[in-house]
Amino acid sequence: MCGIFGCILKDGTAAPLIHASLKRLEYRGYDSVGIATINNGEIYVKKDQGKIDDVHRILNLDDLPGNIGIGHTRWATHGAPLKVNAHPHTDCTGQIAVVHNGIIENYSELKLELENSGHKFVSKTDTEVIAHLIEETATKDPSLSFTDAVLTAIKGLDGSYAIAVISTREPDKIICARNESPLVLGVGENGVYCASDTPAFLPITNKAIFVNDGELVILSPTGYEIRKVCDSSSVAREPKIIDWTPEMAVKQGYPYFMIKEIHEQPLTLRNTLRLQEHYLDLISTFLDRANEVFLVACGTSYHACLAASYMFSKLAFLPTYPVYASEFVEQHGKSVNIDSTILAVSQSGETADTLAAVTCAQQRAATILGLTNVIGSTLTRVSRVYIGQQSGPEIGVAATKTFTSQLSVLAQLALRLSKKRGKISQDEMDYLEEKLEHLPDVVDTIVKTQEEKVKQIAKKYKDAKIFFFLGRGISTATAYEGRLKLMEIAYVPSIAFPAGESKHGPISLIEQGFPVVFICPKDGAHRTLISNIMEMKARGASILAIVEEDDEEVKKLADDYVEVPKGIPEVLSPIPFAVPLQLLAYYMALERGHNPDTPRNLAKSVTVK
Ligand code: AGP
Repeated sequence: MCGIFGCILKDGTAAPLIHASLKRLEYRGYDSVGIATINNGEIYVKKDQGKIDDVHRILNLDDLPGNIGIGHTRWATHGAPLKVNAHPHTDCTGQIAVVHNGIIENYSELKLELENSGHKFVSKTDTEVIAHLIEETATKDPSLSFTDAVLTAIKGLDGSYAIAVISTREPDKIICARNESPLVLGVGENGVYCASDTPAFLPITNKAIFVNDGELVILSPTGYEIRKVCDSSSVAREPKIIDWTPEMAVKQGYPYFMIKEIHEQPLTLRNTLRLQEHYLDLISTFLDRANEVFLVACGTSYHACLAASYMFSKLAFLPTYPVYASEFVEQHGKSVNIDSTILAVSQSGETADTLAAVTCAQQRAATILGLTNVIGSTLTRVSRVYIGQQSGPEIGVAATKTFTSQLSVLAQLALRLSKKRGKISQDEMDYLEEKLEHLPDVVDTIVKTQEEKVKQIAKKYKDAKIFFFLGRGISTATAYEGRLKLMEIAYVPSIAFPAGESKHGPISLIEQGFPVVFICPKDGAHRTLISNIMEMKARGASILAIVEEDDEEVKKLADDYVEVPKGIPEVLSPIPFAVPLQLLAYYMALERGHNPDTPRNLAKSVTVK
């Protein structure tokens, strides 16, 4: 997730306003920043890696001439956060500049074609392809207007984008376009604006026009014109008045970042399905050749690793060992060796315990692989190969969208490994890949149809003193995650166990009305789980079940249930089944008067051991 902004002013220079607007978009990404303006037929660019304030201190982002310009604040997905990869990106001539939020899926093929046509690339980003593609399109047909050159070029793009483009050919215009990534226009007294999100221009104007997928916009000193990319037909759309405060707008109207990020999961899961093939291949090759594989992480990321151990085993017949990073050195510090492979999973890429475990393994010549959400983090620098999960910044302290993204990446790795090892038929592969592709819609359905029910359940159990979370098989990981969420956000003491363990001790806690949450996908453990439900029910527990929508048997046994769409493959079930648990923690926190975004005693990234 990045932030783009563009403006055409009647009076005044564009750069200072672009700079201020990018500051208001900083929550969307902040590892690099850049501005491009046009003045007297020339494009001026200032950009660098680093936070906006730091880059401004060195380069003075306000000091660029011209009343028209574009800007970008970056969350790296393709290419480390380096100056060369910062936006805006230009074409060979320096007469076209582009800023982009999203992921161009076919950028490798396009880049190869353009390089074969003589284009010289300087960055590792997918975005730079857009600038050269517009240049190539305009060169091939000089009769095309700049607008039509952009329109033609974007038809060749696959993937998600919100772009803003300027060119010295038509120096009084900004062409922007949208496909999946958000884009909104602002109309004010002194100019017109385009941005990833309304906070960018809300202090200037509250008149906003929301751009839809497949639309292109021409911003000019006279205003804005919207066209459909497919047939260039004009679209009439009047501004809406935004009645949010800038603070509300940063949360897009949600009361807290946590609920915004829970709702963002369909989009982030789609982005996680657009990973760079060669990194997925490379990591799965390392895993395939590994003698022993440790999955090392903390907290929620550890739960993703625990789930992954079932995925790798069931799909690729690869034994992997999930280990709490804080215990790794004690548990394996002496035995880890050159034949060991560590897959470290860390949303922040900066968790001290995880990095300490990696350092220990590295000192004993183990192979280090990484999965993180922050390109340029320490974990990316110490890993032999890493994958960026492309979830965008997660502001809430509780990991929600980054957890489901981690699970999606790990499932993709397990599938790839299974194919590589010939452990799965093509039909099974096609079935699972189709189900994985469909998960964003499944999560969207859960959020849309079950949120109200979870809200009611939170009201009913808000005074509960303790919760059990139980699951079997891969759902054990989901149960652990549900427990962590409720503890860390609503401060409710919670216990999680593999359901089969209950009778080996924990069941002694059960008394009348004791809430027990069961994670109940209709998988191989379903029948046995029903026995566990009966055990608890017989002792007076209140049964809360997360069930598939057609699971009438468990619904009858449960005091309360939340439904997820049916037909989720067992190995993918933690992704949809986690969502009701995230919502439960969030609404329990609200019921108990806590701020879900800033839970007491916790930090977003635990950089101390
Ligand atoms: C999860 O909600 C917590 N914020 C915490 O457990 C977190 O998952 C853990 O600290 C690991 O963080 P990382 O993924 O950035 O390494």
